[in-house]
Amino acid sequence: MDPKNGSLVTEFILLGFSGRWELQIFFFVTFSLIYGATVVGNTLIMVTVMFSPTLHSPMYFLLGNLSFLDMCLSTATTPKMITDLLSEQKTISVWGCMAQMFFMHFFGGAEMTLLLVMAFDRYAAICKPLHYRTIMSHRLLNGFVILSWIIGFIHTMSQMVLTVNLPFCDHNVINSIFCDLPLVIKLACVETYALELFVIADSGLLSFICFILLLVSYTVILITVQQKSLGGLSKALSTLSAHILVVTLFFGPCIFIYAWPFSNLASNKTLAVFYTVITPLLNSVIYTLRNKKMQGAMRKLWFQHVSSA
Ligand SMILES: *[C@@H]1O[C@H](CO)[C@@H](O)[C@H](O)[C@H]1NC(C)=O
Repeated sequence: MDPKNGSLVTEFILLGFSGRWELQIFFFVTFSLIYGATVVGNTLIMVTVMFSPTLHSPMYFLLGNLSFLDMCLSTATTPKMITDLLSEQKTISVWGCMAQMFFMHFFGGAEMTLLLVMAFDRYAAICKPLHYRTIMSHRLLNGFVILSWIIGFIHTMSQMVLTVNLPFCDHNVINSIFCDLPLVIKLACVETYALELFVIADSGLLSFICFILLLVSYTVILITVQQKSLGGLSKALSTLSAHILVVTLFFGPCIFIYAWPFSNLASNKTLAVFYTVITPLLNSVIYTLRNKKMQGAMRKLWFQHVSSA
């Protein structure tokens, strides 16, 4: 150990799930199955949207893109977490850790923006039905998708430029299943209070504001529908309830993890599992199991494939 600098840390230790090996095996099998289902389910949605003429509308394009982001978000954390369950040494290099946080916030930020775009799409479709096609032109739609990637990139870079150069010495144990900003920042051997506040604002406040914006926009849509006709309300409710459910599942854990930094929710493993493992699967389940049009398109594609094979 160098007494002047302390010992520089080159890798972190993730505590992961504690417990007996039977429990670890159980988690291994469960999370592997969930991750497999996430990849298969979301790929199925993307393929169906791309190859079904009946689904060539803005909402389904956005849904296809959401599936893609969900898959990426899950892939940034879950495979590493699953393999860690079987290994004695649950370590991750400092750079691996930085990469994991970069991608998590990159895809997370993009998904947050895409969910806002999807709310706008529903607003245009339900409240301005006559102008829907002209409002949601292909150009605007492509612009929105690109914008969501750009915002994801800005969101992650703004936090990562301040994090990658932090010195880490002596402390390298992370009590979680993957690297995340609130926990990693605390390990640095410099004063990080300002940076912690910045992360709360950038990740916590941002998700909180987005969540409120989304709830407000869905409320506006429902009020508009109710004023126009009563028959439309139940139809709008059935579409919107899926969206509201997805939004709540996505933002709920994010708000708890990033906006309450002084509690130890950031190392709450149930919350962590929820938004990186479970939510990406639930999104596809919610949209396909509840959506007759999507199911019809999937069946059609399946039979076309089977009959041509
Ligand atoms: C994502 O959105 C773009 C732009 O609208 C669209 O062209 C593309 O097909 C979408 N991707 C998927 C997988 O649906």
